[in-house]
Amino acid sequence: MSYPDKVYLNGQIVASAEAKISVFDRGFIFGDGLYEVMVQINGNFFYEKEHLARLQSGLHKVNIDFDVAILKNEIPKLLHAAQLRDVDCMLYIQITRGVAPRQHSFPSNIKPTVMMYAVPKLLPEINLVNAHVITRKDFRWSRCDIKMTSLLGNVMLNEEAMQHDCYETILHRNGVFTEASHSNLFFVKDGEVYTHPADEHILNGITRIVVIELCHLLGIKIIEEAIKVAEIDSIDEAFLTGTSTQIAAIQNIDDHQLYSGNKKGPITKRLQEAFLKLK
Ligand code: PDD
Repeated sequence: MSYPDKVYLNGQIVASAEAKISVFDRGFIFGDGLYEVMVQINGNFFYEKEHLARLQSGLHKVNIDFDVAILKNEIPKLLHAAQLRDVDCMLYIQITRGVAPRQHSFPSNIKPTVMMYAVPKLLPEINLVNAHVITRKDFRWSRCDIKMTSLLGNVMLNEEAMQHDCYETILHRNGVFTEASHSNLFFVKDGEVYTHPADEHILNGITRIVVIELCHLLGIKIIEEAIKVAEIDSIDEAFLTGTSTQIAAIQNIDDHQLYSGNKKGPITKRLQEAFLKLK
């Protein structure tokens, strides 16, 4: 991982070392801000409209007054300055409530802080990972539908995966699997695909939405219903989805082995191939 050359900050594009914000920014003080991540592939942002719509909807949910339509003009300027116009890259966008003396309630007349940067990122055609994952209790708050910058729960849960030499931590709440620390979670049981419904316990991933569409296109039954932790023995396949994860097969869940060696489930494979065609 390296720092980007250029950062967009409140309408200016500056060298990343020059990009400075106030210590009183509510993003710094409270984690009072939202973010979005999308990738440019072959000169186009993959599902850009959906990513920006999710950001706009999140901003409404937390009452930050900012029109993401502004970004449509600003993103190309940033890519141009960063010399990433037609380069496969990842774009990070962060919008916080802005700068004000510390108080919990929303200050009035506050201007959001808007920050973006892009870094080159070449995604593999198909994610070749066959992931080992651990399971942990989903101790995050109950508004995981909001893509907020306060990711301490996700960060702690992801770190546990790293400490166990695993790819991800998959989470369960009230006896059912929800999602993973930075990706969504799917299971295959008797030829049917299951994923947690898009409620307040998961982030409704754009890749998740794409995979659901692909299931419909391929005639694979997709059920937006949570799988119980107690059902683990009846699972045939499992996979993760996310903007940079794309679709990653899961090989092991704790000590429970789904596949050995480099084998992958047939439905996971079909979806990965269909996803590649879509790109
Ligand atoms: N993470 N669930 C969580 C908790 C996530 O953080 C993410 C994405 C997803 C998948 O969403 P999408 O398909 O829209 O990328 C699900 C991003 C990429 C991140 O934090 O870097």
